[in-house]
Amino acid sequence: MLTLVTGTTGQVGRRFVPRLLAQSRPGERVRVLVRDTARGEPFAALGAEVVVGDLRDTDVLGKAVAGVDAVVNVAASFRGVPDEEAWAVNRDAAVELGLAAQSAGVRRFVQVSTGLVYGQGRGRLVTEEDESRPGGSMWGAYPASKAEAERLLLAMEGLDVRVGRLPFVYGEGDPHLAQSLMWAKNWASGQRLHMGHHVDVAQGLLRILHAPGIPGRVYNIADDAPVTAVELHQLNGVEIPAELYERTDPDPWLVLMSTERIRRELGYRPVYSSVYAAREAGAL
Ligand SMILES: NC(=O)c1ccc[n+]([C@@H]2O[C@H](COP(=O)([O-])OP(=O)(O)OC[C@H]3O[C@@H](n4cnc5c(N)ncnc54)[C@H](OP(=O)(O)O)[C@@H]3O)[C@@H](O)[C@H]2O)c1
Repeated sequence: MLTLVTGTTGQVGRRFVPRLLAQSRPGERVRVLVRDTARGEPFAALGAEVVVGDLRDTDVLGKAVAGVDAVVNVAASFRGVPDEEAWAVNRDAAVELGLAAQSAGVRRFVQVSTGLVYGQGRGRLVTEEDESRPGGSMWGAYPASKAEAERLLLAMEGLDVRVGRLPFVYGEGDPHLAQSLMWAKNWASGQRLHMGHHVDVAQGLLRILHAPGIPGRVYNIADDAPVTAVELHQLNGVEIPAELYERTDPDPWLVLMSTERIRRELGYRPVYSSVYAAREAGAL
């Protein structure tokens, strides 16, 4: 079994690949797609094959999927990029990768997505049965491009596509928790963010990758305890701005996800049920 993983130089991918390799059985191999040869070296040192190139280059995609049994598409472009790039990488390149995988006879395709595809205004935890309605002021083209990628990939005939929708990912030195204040400083005090530690995101994705008989299935991955804007300031050791208490949360259930399906069907149990459990364990 050979598994191709994209986006391995990013925050999620670089922590996912060592876990995928660690639980590989004899004969199971991992290939990574990176854009820069030097940045592939740490993965080669771990025992992975390395293909160098850009996801938007269809020639590269052919090389990347040759001989592959499964793909985990972690790559995305969303941190401060123009909308055209978000669409080109998150939707167009993901679809081209799916097509390349389909024609190369790849058996499984895990698309890494985001809870932001749910959009606003549910008034309760969102479940995988809820339709995607990305939009509103959040994140520009990012949620819409990820939602479109999901839709187009899931419609591909003959390709066993599974989707994992991630929450706000943190832990293991990822600066994301500190970066959360970029938004949280403008929130109402009680506005919540649904979290997932890297170890649990990897757990969820590995369960989705390995489970038999779940083509077309979508799974939310998250922990058990969304944290408020006040808690995000406290966790970062930053004074709580007084204005937080003057604001009203416009959507108290925004992207808070039910994880009932992944628990019931795939046996997922978060190692870190909350960011506090991770902090106690020294895993921030
Ligand atoms: N982190 C979160 O909280 C979070 C939450 C929800 C969903 N997600 C999803 O999780 C996945 C990973 O997120 P992340 O936080 O790890 O993102 P990240 O740190 O920004 O990493 C993105 C990865 O994608 C690669 N990439 C971007 N454009 C590419 C291109 N044109 N060709 C090849 N590779 C390209 C990057 O490569 P370079 O290093 O070469 O740029 C990098 O390896 C994404 O699919 C994202 O939608 C993340």
